[in-house]
Amino acid sequence: PDPEPPAKLKLGFESLPTSMTDGCVVPPGYTAHVLAPWGTPINDNALPWDQNGNNSSSDLLNSMGMHHDGMHFFPLEGSSTEGLLAVNHEYIDANALHPNGPTLVDGKRPAEEVRKEINAHGVAIIHIRRDQGRWDIVQNSRYNRRFTSATPMKLAGPIGGTDWTKTPFSPNGTQVRGTNNNCGNGTTPWGTYITAEENWAACFVNTGNRPAHQQRVGVSSGPTGRYQWETAAQDPSEVLGEFARFNVTETGAGPTEDWRNEVNGFGYLVEIDPYDPTSIATKRTSMGRFAHEGCAYSKPEAGKPLAFYSGDDSRFEYVYRFVSEANWDPKDAQRTDRLAVGAKYLDKGTLYVARFNEDGSGEWLALTGTTVGKNGRTLAQEFGSLDAILINTRGAADFVGATPMDRPEWTATHPSNGDIYLTLTNNTSRNASTGTNPANPRLNNVNGHVIRWHDEADSNKFKWDIFVFGSDAGADADTNLSGLTDLNQLASPDGLAFDSRGILWIQTDNGIDGGRKNNVARATNDQMLAVIPGALADSTGTGPAINAANQAELRRFFVGPNEAEITGFAMTPDHTSLFLNIQHPSNWPAYDTQDATVVSMNTVRPRSSTVVIQRTDGKPIAV
Ligand code: FEO
Ligand code: CA
Ligand code: CA
Ligand code: CA
Repeated sequence: PDPEPPAKLKLGFESLPTSMTDGCVVPPGYTAHVLAPWGTPINDNALPWDQNGNNSSSDLLNSMGMHHDGMHFFPLEGSSTEGLLAVNHEYIDANALHPNGPTLVDGKRPAEEVRKEINAHGVAIIHIRRDQGRWDIVQNSRYNRRFTSATPMKLAGPIGGTDWTKTPFSPNGTQVRGTNNNCGNGTTPWGTYITAEENWAACFVNTGNRPAHQQRVGVSSGPTGRYQWETAAQDPSEVLGEFARFNVTETGAGPTEDWRNEVNGFGYLVEIDPYDPTSIATKRTSMGRFAHEGCAYSKPEAGKPLAFYSGDDSRFEYVYRFVSEANWDPKDAQRTDRLAVGAKYLDKGTLYVARFNEDGSGEWLALTGTTVGKNGRTLAQEFGSLDAILINTRGAADFVGATPMDRPEWTATHPSNGDIYLTLTNNTSRNASTGTNPANPRLNNVNGHVIRWHDEADSNKFKWDIFVFGSDAGADADTNLSGLTDLNQLASPDGLAFDSRGILWIQTDNGIDGGRKNNVARATNDQMLAVIPGALADSTGTGPAINAANQAELRRFFVGPNEAEITGFAMTPDHTSLFLNIQHPSNWPAYDTQDATVVSMNTVRPRSSTVVIQRTDGKPIAV
């Protein structure tokens, strides 16, 4: 376990002012460099990024994908100057990806365009190294690899190998091609990466009768899926339904003749072993099927089960906890058959969903057959076996009376006291008719909040409080419940991470690309703030933990370029390099420099990118 944070841990930088310039802003004495923007080759099989959008699907398969999101740094032999960076590629901007945007020919997407889009999604593992203060990709490293929305993956846990997942590609239902819309991430105590499938459902279309679970999770009813990938079906080059599979309408031919079950292979947390370049990514279906944002694990204790927390990012959705059946054995952290360790802890266990009570207590409700829900019926009576419950995780959570939240995004675990934090990004649909609840107490919650809880040992109970309420500095006290000022006003918290010292990093995705619709968006670009939280037990139990008396401890460390969201967090073990991602900028980075702070005067297409932040004196960041 991590040591207690040193008592003298203090933030050693002054809070930044708001910024609306089209470049990154860091505190004095810090640098920010652009690393691995979309289209950067990771090996010699790709041509360099072309500013006119002419790279091929094969180039993309061997380059960084688009729209970087969750991320983690895996050191090589404990190094802080060399390691593997795992980066999620959440979605695409088809206008930037293709020379003249996406095209349709006779109602069909050209196969090459679709392949390029499929390859721009997924995950990149890149070997990176710092040389003379500058991080770069180690080209052609054996570790460099891409997972895309077409890469074969295993389906493990209760849903894998069942009738739910049998397709023409995998007649026994144990495999699926690809991972989609990988947003937040997690890691495990045994050194693997978890990538979370979030807004995958809309990529599939079912123009027939959508079963209840497809409706509940948002599979498109048509006429097309989000990217119209299915329209490329029957192209002469199509391999085993590579495009047809996104149309999951039943044809009457049977589940291993049509692609009805393809969609059941998506919606999971996917485990990747970055250290083994031959390993196969594995979807851990026991951890539920929904719009997973990320995944944080509880502080491991020898001889006790492990817990993993994951938000379901949609309005009024829930937060989940998976508890392993196996008890934690610290020796497993050293094993090199990491996906076998993953199978031990992640394929068998119990999924729970949270209910938050008014008195600051809460309860984890088990999504297993014996749990009683509506009308005195059990989940087994209502849904059937465990695989059927998990396929419709949202429906099962509705049935047992979970607390509907204001868009649960990332979770993070305090390294020493084990408190779990969760961003609730916003919910503009919470109104008089939906009502509020104790954990989501503001109507028209445009600003979002951060909640936290602490599980009671050996029980399904927890206690919780609200850590900070987002707000603009000028709002009245009913809205600005944490007393935020110009120096730390924030809205739409999303990315969230603790570093191993106990500093909490809060990143925002305030929808600025949609037109600066709230007062914080009108005051600043998206940002990252830092704070050293006290334990939940220190809270007074009334009002937010960050309040007018102590809000100065929450400091703005970084502001991003125009229209971009700030997401993804990684740090080297010595805390001297910090990595974050700039997602969906409008005109950044500047084309002729790697300095991320330069205000862009581009006329070429924008590129989502990782940014590396260091101090000019080389010392640890933020302290
Ligand atoms: Fe992809 Fe919920 O952010
Ligand atoms: Ca997010
Ligand atoms: Ca978001
Ligand atoms: Ca995003």
